[in-house]
Amino acid sequence: METSRMAILFFLVAGMSSFIIIHVYGDNASPNGALFSRKHSHLQKMQVSKDSFLQRDSLSSSRHPKLQSTTSSETTIPLVYHLTSYGADPTGKADSTDAILAAISDALKGPGNGFLIEGIVNLGGARVDLDGGNYLISRPIQFPISGRGNLVIHGGSLTASGDFPSDGYLIDLSPASKNGSGYNYEFVTLRDLFLDSNFRGGGIQVVNSLRTNIDNCYITHFNTTGISVQGGHETYIRYSYLGQYITAGGDSNERNFSGTGIVLSGNDNAVTDTVIFSAAIGILILGQANTLSGVHCYNKATGFGGTGIYIKTPGLAQTWIVNSYLDFTGIVAEDPVQLTVSSSFFLGDAFVLFKSIKGIANGLNIVDNMFSGSDKGIDIVQLDQSNGPFNQVDQVVIDRNNVRGMNIKATVARGIVQGNSTSWTADFNSVLVFPNLIKQVQYAFVTDSNSFPVHALRNVSGNKVVIQSNVAVPASVYITADQGGTSFST
Ligand SMILES: *[C@@H]1O[C@H](CO)[C@@H](O)[C@H](O)[C@H]1NC(C)=O
Ligand SMILES: *[C@@H]1O[C@H](CO)[C@@H](O)[C@H](O)[C@H]1NC(C)=O
Ligand SMILES: *[C@@H]1O[C@H](CO)[C@@H](O)[C@H](O)[C@H]1NC(C)=O
Ligand SMILES: *[C@@H]1O[C@H](CO)[C@@H](O)[C@H](O)[C@H]1NC(C)=O
Ligand SMILES: *[C@@H]1O[C@H](CO)[C@@H](O)[C@H](O)[C@H]1NC(C)=O
Repeated sequence: METSRMAILFFLVAGMSSFIIIHVYGDNASPNGALFSRKHSHLQKMQVSKDSFLQRDSLSSSRHPKLQSTTSSETTIPLVYHLTSYGADPTGKADSTDAILAAISDALKGPGNGFLIEGIVNLGGARVDLDGGNYLISRPIQFPISGRGNLVIHGGSLTASGDFPSDGYLIDLSPASKNGSGYNYEFVTLRDLFLDSNFRGGGIQVVNSLRTNIDNCYITHFNTTGISVQGGHETYIRYSYLGQYITAGGDSNERNFSGTGIVLSGNDNAVTDTVIFSAAIGILILGQANTLSGVHCYNKATGFGGTGIYIKTPGLAQTWIVNSYLDFTGIVAEDPVQLTVSSSFFLGDAFVLFKSIKGIANGLNIVDNMFSGSDKGIDIVQLDQSNGPFNQVDQVVIDRNNVRGMNIKATVARGIVQGNSTSWTADFNSVLVFPNLIKQVQYAFVTDSNSFPVHALRNVSGNKVVIQSNVAVPASVYITADQGGTSFST
């Protein structure tokens, strides 16, 4: 059979159109400063034995007006523990570790108001107030006991001293002494905090806790991990900034960035509207059912060995990443099963890498993203098959991404093959993500010749599709090849 010259033109659903280049780089809440604002005498008596209680109370009282209770019920009177009332040094010169631990200890051992989940005493919204100070600490602020909840720590800065333990966290929600086998804490809120780990250890550790809020925190100079979540459920990290070095991008030291911004080693957590501006890995995911939304990673460029989001849960990811911004640093997922990456922006040749461990890629949606690169021929989705090929691929949809200055890759490819011939071959290798895997083909055979040729799909192999006819005719053959869809047979 004679095969004439054929012009192949690929076009994809995610067509190219014009783009705009976006440049990177680019309380004292209590009316009462008193250590304990309760007026109920027996509660105060409980505290009298504490060191220097009277002095702190009187000091505070002399500076602040007395609390006006809005209700006669003692359980609605707020408890606010001011670090300055405990002798902590808000100028950051003297070591304030003991004072802060005393305040935390009093807060945790303060009066409760019933229970949250079983085993968690409800502290009723007690607050540890940093009074806008910056405190030097030489040991982790590790919670002394477990089984407490509904507590807020907020409003100031903590800085690790030069002899802070290199494996410690400035704030450590793993109890020094554990009481019971349930969750350690519930509904602890860490808010409006600036944490400087001074290149000694990490920022915050949350262990086996429920419904922890980390909100509007700036965590820097960590040498291990900015925020580490171990076990538990529903730690929500919101509106926060994490960076090992304080930089706004293009840092000459970027190759040396180390450490991890956030580790989620548990389920059902969320990171929303959070920036990781320097670290080797932005977010490391080691559990399931975690959601990332509005995350901006420019921690360490892929080209320097960095990773924006690393999903290291081979066999079951159950992770969804939406509305995020991967800025010169990409996403890596090992044997991903159930992973969505959608409505996100990849800048600076950032891409998605699937790393084969046992060859599984199942339930993936990499759709409706924007990719922008620098014409270096970088594929938007890549495979690392150094451990073996992906050979268990099902329900993978990589499609509808728009691409500028990078190579588009997809699991759905469409092409037109034109020619006066008996054979039309479309080679989709440059577009399709997986080698030698086409699950479904559809084609339309369009000819304006007077004859009505017999034609058929004759061969699908090596990501090539061959259509043949019984007689030579000038024809355009429109072919769609799909690697992803589940096949249904009837
Ligand atoms: C910081 O971490 C690096 C490894 O990433 C380690 O070599 C170094 O000793 C650590 N620094 C401190 C002060 O512990
Ligand atoms: C441990 O919990 C039990 C029961 O809630 C309580 O009676 C006990 O005082 C707690 N111990 C400590 C050290 O918190
Ligand atoms: C990276 O770190 C090494 C070792 O600490 C240092 O010699 C080098 O100057 C650093 N690079 C930059 C660009 O600062
Ligand atoms: C198509 O090819 C056949 C066989 O080579 C030839 O006879 C015919 O004229 C060609 N038709 C057109 C429109 O070029
Ligand atoms: C399909 O094409 C491949 C590659 O050219 C070839 O090895 C194979 O034998 C073909 N299959 C059939 C059924 O013709």
